Amino acid sequence: MDTTPKLRLAIVGGGIGGLALAVALSHMKIDQEIQVDIYESAARITQVGAGITFWPRTWEILKDLGMEDDLVAYMNPGQELPSKMNPKLALCYRKSDGGHNIMISDMAFPGGSITFHRADVQQVLLKHISSRVRIYLSKRLASYHEFPDGIQLRFKDGESAICDMLIGADGINSVVRKGFLKKVYNLSEPEATEAVRPLWSGTVVYRSLIDSNAIRRSMPNHPTLGKPMTYCGKHKHIITYPVSQGRLINTLAFVSDPHAEAIHFEGPSIINPSLDNVSSFFKHWSKEVRCITDHMTKPSRWGVEMVRPLETYSVGRITLLGDAAHAMTTHLANGASQAIEDAYILAHILAKASTQGIFSPEKIGAIYSTIRQPFSNAVAKASLEQGRYYEFSTAEFEDVAEGDAVSQERLRGLAKEIHDRMEWMWNSSISGDVQSALSMA
Ligand SMILES: Cc1cc2nc3c(=O)[nH]c(=O)nc-3n(C[C@H](O)[C@H](O)[C@H](O)COP(=O)(O)OP(=O)(O)OC[C@H]3O[C@@H](n4cnc5c(N)ncnc54)[C@H](O)[C@@H]3O)c2cc1C
Ligand SMILES: *[C@@H]1O[C@H](CO)[C@@H](O)[C@H](O)[C@H]1NC(C)=O
Ligand SMILES: *[C@@H]1O[C@H](CO)[C@@H](O)[C@H](O)[C@H]1NC(C)=O
Ligand SMILES: *[C@@H]1O[C@H](CO)[C@@H](O)[C@H](O)[C@H]1NC(C)=O
Repeated sequence: MDTTPKLRLAIVGGGIGGLALAVALSHMKIDQEIQVDIYESAARITQVGAGITFWPRTWEILKDLGMEDDLVAYMNPGQELPSKMNPKLALCYRKSDGGHNIMISDMAFPGGSITFHRADVQQVLLKHISSRVRIYLSKRLASYHEFPDGIQLRFKDGESAICDMLIGADGINSVVRKGFLKKVYNLSEPEATEAVRPLWSGTVVYRSLIDSNAIRRSMPNHPTLGKPMTYCGKHKHIITYPVSQGRLINTLAFVSDPHAEAIHFEGPSIINPSLDNVSSFFKHWSKEVRCITDHMTKPSRWGVEMVRPLETYSVGRITLLGDAAHAMTTHLANGASQAIEDAYILAHILAKASTQGIFSPEKIGAIYSTIRQPFSNAVAKASLEQGRYYEFSTAEFEDVAEGDAVSQERLRGLAKEIHDRMEWMWNSSISGDVQSALSMA
């Protein structure tokens, strides 16, 4: 029996996107035919402790890949399995910068949203990766070199490896993306170094996991003990939701600089812990908000960054996936979901190639990009706009200052804008995109 693999697939980056691709390939049993190697720079697979939200559209994928039961074990009390039949209260928006909370909307939709601790999701992903997939740790890609029949990967430790198809799943500061930009746009080394730098949205976010008992002691009926809340106001907003069976409240406090002129975030993009006093930014906000911010001691501080939109996610043997392709602001809570969609579509195209017995990295990558690039770029754009709506910083709210009363009618208009940017997350399915991809393959 010929045991030479028909394709050597290298996945650089073992984050949610890289692992999801390995899960999908394992589930579809393509790992029996092609060689799948994951190269991860970290010494172990870990995630920064924080929450992650999934929507019905993503849940459908996780379910199809066989992970539903294992994820359900980590669900919070009161959360139910998403069902497209059952409208559930999923997002509660309040205007809170005027000292008390004013209703913007309570959004219920079929399926609702489900929140997890990131590390829990990662455990489930790892469990669903076949033992044939090789995961190499402490392997930081330094550069790569294309030759006619393949790509040589060069690692920081001096070692190298060969592959036929390279998947750059190495996140927002992707090394694969840099070589990719050089190739697509014919950039010089200094031009590529500049082009690959993430862009800053003008916003920083303070993140904490707060012990829910601490909130309960100060405010026994704090709404976020039971549901996800978004507190909006001028140039700032706060998102809170329970994770880890309700033991922790994942908290994100966003503070924007309306006059930010820097294209790039100055200084380290993550400071952990930050000694900034988050309460001081929200001192005129509602009691509920202050209860949260008073418990945010030593949060981590992140610059909310994104990448310059790409015209394609694939060139030759190189394909980008997840944040390396389309890192976006957090406002639609969709970066990881988009990485999972990428992985799912790419795995389907590889599965079709497997039934045909021919793996063309160029063709596989081109089909993947045709399906995924317009979609994820549109999500990234909507995500940036959504953040501006949360903070009354779009043109129609220019006249509104912090704490100002805003008419019911305008708040209804705001609720509609917010709703319309999210509706696809529960009213659409990825199955149409799978069919389109398969028809091209
Ligand atoms: C504050 C915040 C909140 C968020 N909330 C949500 C949410 O609720 N829902 C959601 O869907 N998304 C959310 N996101 C977005 C989500 O975190 C990312 O989109 C997602 O992690 C992208 O996955 P990825 O695998 O592409 O990249 P990453 O998770 O960044 O993984 C990249 C991996 O590559 C490795 N790596 C990097 N460079 C190299 C190299 N040179 N060689 C080898 N390995 C390398 C890294 O160590 C890492 O493991 C949030 C993001 C932030 C910042
Ligand atoms: C790429 O850039 C180099 C250096 O700027 C230039 O000499 C070359 O002609 C360019 N190639 C293409 C295909 O544009
Ligand atoms: C943080 O800011 C709040 C609100 O301005 C203030 O009441 C509190 O004393 C500050 N805490 C510290 C440690 O400076
Ligand atoms: C789904 O939502 C989008 C965005 O709001 C909307 O344009 C579309 O008509 C909706 N589709 C269905 C089937 O409801």
